[in-house]
Amino acid sequence: MELSDFVIIPAGAHHIGYAQQICDEMAESAKARGTGIARRSPEYVANKMKEGKAVIALHRDGTWAGFCYIETWSHGDFVANSGLVVSPKFRKAGLAKAIKKRIFDLSREKYPKAKIFGLTTGLAVMKINSDLGYEPVTYSELTQDEEFWKGCQSCVNYDILTMKERKNCMCTAMLWDPVEKEKELRERIEMKAKAKERLKQITKKSSLLKRIEAKLWKSTKKMVTTIITRYPKPI
Ligand SMILES: CC(C)(COP(=O)(O)OP(=O)(O)OC[C@H]1O[C@@H](n2cnc3c(N)ncnc32)[C@H](O)[C@@H]1OP(=O)(O)O)[C@@H](O)C(=O)NCCC(=O)NCCS
Repeated sequence: MELSDFVIIPAGAHHIGYAQQICDEMAESAKARGTGIARRSPEYVANKMKEGKAVIALHRDGTWAGFCYIETWSHGDFVANSGLVVSPKFRKAGLAKAIKKRIFDLSREKYPKAKIFGLTTGLAVMKINSDLGYEPVTYSELTQDEEFWKGCQSCVNYDILTMKERKNCMCTAMLWDPVEKEKELRERIEMKAKAKERLKQITKKSSLLKRIEAKLWKSTKKMVTTIITRYPKPI
């Protein structure tokens, strides 16, 4: 099984036939992990497909392989790439990683100013998010949109979240902030420019030293020739 056996594309209305299977697999996987999820209906998933806010992975024979969708919160200031699921028979082949990259790019295209975040207990998702440049943050840095937090009500750990007054829970919060990333990029460009300037100065200094050395060598040679001519060796 190779990644090249799959297509990973933004989902459209022609994919709604897969919605039921996707929801069934999301529920099965959550049950197997012993965690809760923000439960989504096939209608909800189908709508995401119609709105172009989802990515689907299909095997080249047409079998459904994976899925993820975009949700927006706080009037589009925050975006979450939710509901990541890969069909059990296609796991551990890099599909989740590829789907997350595609949905991340789609989120950036659609909502370039939004902060992209995730809440997860899954090591695989933490690894993938980290590779994409997400940073671990406290819950206070996530959307405070009540609708988002309502999604946690179907999680087995909801009591913990409530007890901790939504400050933390079992999930790790991760965030990709476009403003922070732009700042980091600007700093990297500035550092590169400074290093280039320093190298230019060093090169300039070294060529000046070379010229001084050549001049000194020339005058020393001239002096030695004069001494030899003036004071020939006694026979
Ligand atoms: C989690 C899930 C999406 C991973 O899908 P996948 O296609 O097998 O993942 P990938 O092959 O792309 O692996 C990505 C990385 O995670 C690691 N990984 C995959 N499954 C893992 C697991 N169960 N435990 C720990 N690490 C795991 C891989 O080794 C890889 O790491 P690497 O880049 O360092 O090699 C899949 O197991 C799944 O659908 N699970 C049920 C639903 C779920 O848990 N969704 C996440 C909700 S937050």
